[in-house]
Amino acid sequence: MIMESKVVFIGAGNMAEAIVSGMVAGGFCAPEKIIMTDVRPERLADLEREYGVSISTDNNVVKNAEIVVLAVKPQAMAEVLKGIMPVLRKETLVVSIAAGIPTAKIEAALGGKRRVVRVMPNTPALVGQGASAIAAGTNADEADLEVTENILSCVGLTVRVKEKELDAVTALSGSGPAYVFYLLEGMLAAADKMGLDKETARRLALKTVEGAARLMDDTGEAADALRAKVTSKGGTTEAAIRSLDEAGVKDAIVQALLAAQKRSVELSK
Ligand SMILES: NC(=O)c1ccc[n+]([C@@H]2O[C@H](COP(=O)([O-])OP(=O)(O)OC[C@H]3O[C@@H](n4cnc5c(N)ncnc54)[C@H](OP(=O)(O)O)[C@@H]3O)[C@@H](O)[C@H]2O)c1
Repeated sequence: MIMESKVVFIGAGNMAEAIVSGMVAGGFCAPEKIIMTDVRPERLADLEREYGVSISTDNNVVKNAEIVVLAVKPQAMAEVLKGIMPVLRKETLVVSIAAGIPTAKIEAALGGKRRVVRVMPNTPALVGQGASAIAAGTNADEADLEVTENILSCVGLTVRVKEKELDAVTALSGSGPAYVFYLLEGMLAAADKMGLDKETARRLALKTVEGAARLMDDTGEAADALRAKVTSKGGTTEAAIRSLDEAGVKDAIVQALLAAQKRSVELSK
């Protein structure tokens, strides 16, 4: 499937680059259809050279866009929306990847009845392995969700949720990569203590995380069932899991995600 719409990305940061890179590399969108804007001309010049997209330091280029992707940091959003409001066409689809900004706020800042789709991506999108959830605002329709899904699918998995579920998604997959890195920090610190060479340990640990995820995905089995399969009575895994249980690690993880969800709700206000 090839997208013919003209897309403007406002904010040419890491996330915007990842998405554009995926769109162009996969042949989903011709670079001539994409305009990236930013306040940093040198950053834009790099992106023009790398992907062949058009660039501008003027957000008013949205006036010809069929789709606008808002990819600035949440704290820059109010100023950006205020700036584009007078020139944005009524029929333009607005896709926001900014964390914690409800579609209602975006609709209101753009003067009311706007088609807005909100996305919660995660950082593995930078290597085409993202997990994104998308949610429609009040005026966005099925076609809007479909086009957003197609764009985000260029950098990984995309699922649809209700907007009120985005705080839970933020806690699960938005912040999720950090939990995996936290686990890896512990695994690698232990490997170091046990005298393993750093590079060897890194390769083994990374493949273990990747392989375990793949095993769970391919078999469709539950996490606890797969864990039981590698835990023989009186063995090494059992010793490790007993230690984790004694420290209350599973409950701490549950509490951690609930804390992230709570914070996401607070930040959206
Ligand atoms: N769930 C997640 O893990 C996740 C991950 C990444 C991103 N996100 C969301 O994605 C969005 C982008 O994140 P990012 O990491 O790509 O941010 P980023 O690298 O900071 O990119 C934003 C870019 O927008 C530029 N900018 C600032 N004000 C602007 C304006 N008025 N007009 C045009 N451009 C402007 C910034 O320039 P300066 O640097 O000079 O200000 C920067 O180059 C954020 O809203 C974030 O919440 C979510």
